[in-house]
Amino acid sequence: MNAAQLSNRSQVEPFRVMRMLDLVQRRAREGKETIMLCAGQPETGAPEAVLHEAEIALRSSPLGYTEVLGDRQLREAVAAWHSATYGVDTNADNVIVTTGSSGAFVAAFLAVLDQGDSVALSCPGYPAYRNILGALGAQIVDLQCGEETRFQPTAAMLEALPEKPKAVIVTSPGNPTGTIIDPAELERIAEWCDLNGTVLISDEDYHGMSFGRPTATARAYSENAITVGTLSKYFSMTGWRVGWMIVPDYMVDALENLLGSLALCAPAISQVAGRAAFTLEAAAELDQHVAVYQETREVFLAELPKIGLGTFAEPDGGLYLWVDVSDYTQDSEAWARELVEEIGVAVAPGVDFDPHHGNQWVRLSLCASAADAREACRRLGEFLAR
Ligand SMILES: Cc1ncc(COP(=O)(O)O)c(C=O)c1O
Repeated sequence: MNAAQLSNRSQVEPFRVMRMLDLVQRRAREGKETIMLCAGQPETGAPEAVLHEAEIALRSSPLGYTEVLGDRQLREAVAAWHSATYGVDTNADNVIVTTGSSGAFVAAFLAVLDQGDSVALSCPGYPAYRNILGALGAQIVDLQCGEETRFQPTAAMLEALPEKPKAVIVTSPGNPTGTIIDPAELERIAEWCDLNGTVLISDEDYHGMSFGRPTATARAYSENAITVGTLSKYFSMTGWRVGWMIVPDYMVDALENLLGSLALCAPAISQVAGRAAFTLEAAAELDQHVAVYQETREVFLAELPKIGLGTFAEPDGGLYLWVDVSDYTQDSEAWARELVEEIGVAVAPGVDFDPHHGNQWVRLSLCASAADAREACRRLGEFLAR
């Protein structure tokens, strides 16, 4: 047996940022420090209230499989949080808990797509959608999103497509851009999807992390929309692997059957303790993290133009800043490697997020402290001035 046995569907693109992490780890072994601006996760841990519940659950419960659709109390907590946050009436029956939101995407795609169905998504965008869809044999329709629309898709872009896609994915705040889709535009997209029989999948993973702009849920505009969320980002519980989707009534049974075979359930300890992530006590702690991301954002917004990196997507929220580096390179991956080796600053190469133009962009993370962001800009400034 050899690699020739591998399926065509397994031939997905690697996540290039992982190669950066390898470089950073090698440097650490050599005793060299690196400022990490390439991570896609909070550096903070789970809220205190969650840790407390986890300690209790470890000793008091066998922590066997939960229900396939998720721990009922967690589903109720998500529904109550979603209803209160967005002023909608979300029923726990429509909330399905998954292994991270990654698990929700696989299940949702399986539930709505057949081989060859097309899915429209924004470019630049989160690479896993593309990779999962490719592995499932779906056709990807790129919606090229630039500065004119603040890197977000519009209903007009969907209307201009030669064929109606089976599904559309929107991500707000975006990865890698951090831009937030205007509620009015999200409403237009939801209406367009309803009118054209297209399933709207709204990735709301970075909700809670806004620096002022309002974030709307797609479920406010259509009960046919699938909304996806996670404990990984705002809730600061990346490795606990809990996500969810809020789905129309008609999808629940199919998803239960699929998830019963795909995963059985998300990690029980994370679900039980995760209920406490939706408490006021946890929110008070988590909002402080967002204030730190905002501080780092302000440093980048002030410093980047001074060092010759004046073209970027201004993040409205989320964890990232998307920077045009075309004046310095046409190969962002090689350039990012050079930055690590020469000045000890690790950024994520843009090719991961945009196969067409990403060789001229990089993504910076707002998870670094403001002090690290300032030092990274100083080093970058020196490097670019050489
Ligand atoms: C836009 C977006 N969606 C989904 C995910 C998956 O996150 P998780 O599976 O941890 O919920 C990520 C992770 O970085 C992301 O950036």
